[in-house]
Parts: sequence; C-alpha cells; structure tokens
Amino acid sequence: MNFDEYVDRSVYPTLKWSKSFLAKYFGNEEAIPMSVADMDLKAPPAVIEQLQKRAAHRIYGYEYRPESYFAALIAWYQDRHGWQIERGQIEPSPSILSAIAILINQHSDEGDGVILQTPVFFEFRMAIKSSRRKVIKNPLKLVEGHYQMDFEDLERKAADPRNKVLILCSPHNPVGRVWSTAELAQVAEICRRHDVFVIADEVHGDFSFSPHRFVPYLKVAGGENGAACISPAKTFNISGIVNALTVIPDEEHRRRFHEFTQRYWVNKVNVFASAATEAAYKDGGAWLDALLAYLRGNVDFIRSYLHHNDIGISLIEPEGTFLAWLDFRELGLDAKALERFLSQDAQLALAPGYWFGREGAGFARMTIGCPRETVQRALDRLASATRRLRYGEGI
Ligand SMILES: Cc1ncc(COP(=O)(O)O)c(C=O)c1O
Repeated sequence: MNFDEYVDRSVYPTLKWSKSFLAKYFGNEEAIPMSVADMDLKAPPAVIEQLQKRAAHRIYGYEYRPESYFAALIAWYQDRHGWQIERGQIEPSPSILSAIAILINQHSDEGDGVILQTPVFFEFRMAIKSSRRKVIKNPLKLVEGHYQMDFEDLERKAADPRNKVLILCSPHNPVGRVWSTAELAQVAEICRRHDVFVIADEVHGDFSFSPHRFVPYLKVAGGENGAACISPAKTFNISGIVNALTVIPDEEHRRRFHEFTQRYWVNKVNVFASAATEAAYKDGGAWLDALLAYLRGNVDFIRSYLHHNDIGISLIEPEGTFLAWLDFRELGLDAKALERFLSQDAQLALAPGYWFGREGAGFARMTIGCPRETVQRALDRLASATRRLRYGEGI
C-alpha cells in the first residue's frame, strides 16, 4: 500500500483527468484535476486480485448475487459501524443516485418539495429538478468554523405539508461533517413528526477521522420513514464499477422499490461489481485503515501549510470524507471571480463552492484522495496565485 505512488489515469477516459472535462468545466486543460470525488489511488490489493481472477475466467454471463456477497456487506457494517442490517431489507440498485431518484419519485409527487442541507453535493439538486420536484433549502450554519444543522429552520420546512422528503448527506459532502447521534436523532424526530421521508446518502460513511465516528442514520432513527443508500464505490475507489445498495426497513416501501427496479430492469448483476464488492468488504479493512491514516496526513499537511503560509485561505476541519472544504472569503472575490482565480490564476480544477448552492460561495472543494505530492503542488500553486493577487505580478 503505497499511497504516494503516482498512477497515470489519463491513459483511460477518466472523467476527472480528461482534457475535454477540464476544458469544459475549468477552461484550462493544464489545471491539476481535484474536482471529482474519486481517488487517484489504487484500489485495495484484495479487490484487484479478485477482479483479475474473475477476468481470467473468461466467461462473463448472467449471474446472481451470491449470499456470500450480502454476508460480507452485513459483516462489514456490523463490525465497523455496529449496525445490524437485515438481509431481507437490502435492495440493490445501479448507483446511489439512481436509488435516490427512485426514492424521491416514490415518496413525493411532482411539485412537492425535497429538503437539502446546503451547501451540498450538487447532483442532489439535479435529481430533484429532473423529477420535477422543488428544492427546499435548509442551509447549514457556519458557527466559528464549524458547520451545524439549523434545526429551527428544518422544523419550519418539515412542517410544510408540501415538503415530503429530506436528503441527508451523512457524512456531509462537501463540508466534511460526521453527524453525531444527537444530531441524527433530532433530524429523525422532526421528520417523523412531520411525516417527511429521509433518504440518508451514506456513501462517505466509511470515512471518518477519530474521535469522530460515523453513525448510520437508520440505527438511530429506526426504519419506518427512511432509507439508507450505501455503496463500496467511494470507500474502495471503485466508483467506475457501478453498484449500490439501499436499505429499506419498511416492508411496503421496500416492495415498491423492488417493483420499480424490476419494472425498469435496473437490477442486472455486473459480475465485476459483485466480485469487487465482496472482496472489498471481506478483505479491505486493513487497506481502508491505512488509507484513513494517509488521508488524515493529507489533512494535517494542508492545515500546517495554511498555518505557516499566510495566504488568506483557511481549512474547514473535516471530520470525515476525502474532501477538503477551503474557505477563500478573506480574498474578497465574488463567486465567479473566485472560480476564475482558481482555474486560471492558480491552475487548479477545484469544485467552486457555489456549485453546491449559493451558501457555498467563497469556498471551494478539493479532493484529497491523491498522493500528498499532488496536494503540495496544488497548495504551492494557490500560494503563488494569492501572492500575485495581493501584491501584484512583481512578487
Ligand atoms: C454524497 C454523494 N452521493 C452520491 C454520489 C454518487 O454516487 P453514485 O456514483 O453511486 O451515484 C457521490 C459522488 O461524488 C457523492 O459524493
């Protein structure tokens, strides 16, 4: 496990690294790609071995998901998160977002409101809009460098009978919060009282930095008005091998979800996804622990760099995820000017904060699941660009 190793991803049509993606979204093919939330790090050896073994078999016909696949997933959640998932409550889906789109459709009607805790992963908004629902914001509050939920506002939004669903991002992309049991219990209590269905997107659930610990929403809330979307995609850096699972405790909700995936045939088994997932959950634990230590090292590196170089940028301390949410407000640039500054002056492809909602303006998200050297190069570029911005070209 050498996370410092640089692996050239440009040899494949990698979204994050492709020149066309960099040109389209950043107007700069030379920008260091740090926007997409996948990692520039090799998958666990156990996953690679299993995929090689599966490929070597040379027949890739129809398969079913074996019980050993579900057993590996259940054991992982029990061991790492103390959550006992019932086998019968799991419904597969192609991806987290497809599950979210289905759940939005099943728990609201056109024109209804879906609550988001902004700034938040921008594709939630797209999923809501393409289902012709309304985005209802329950913005997070930033209090002394720490994001918090605004429960009074959530109470008001949940009380409106037109608002039927809340998408809970746990841990939170992009701000890096790992919600506590008390916070999740409060969300559950408010949503239960107002009959708001909670879709808990827990794709980042395996990334938390001690002493913070990820708490599965359903473990706190029980099941009657919620579902959890989980997947090995982020944890083991296999998001190109699409595969997700939805835990739906309520029998009637689950039956409807199942019927939908059958009706639209979005329940096919990808043999490589099954092989990778089972291997990862069975044998990927030590690799993940090493990765978490490395990511924590990247966070420490950023903190210390920003502390020692006064460049007007600060880090919102992440409690989890492999994303760094950087605060550029001191530079005094508006959202568009900051976007230009990052992509043109600093030559970096970071996700500008306003992509996550207006509340993200003045911030940007840097994906730090990459060798530390890439993080250092990015910070060096930021440091020179901010010096030029503040003191002019002569510096
Ligand atoms: C919070 C969150 N949910 C969902 C996704 C996408 O998951 P999938 O590719 O399985 O749809 C991402 C990817 O960045 C994410 O960060």
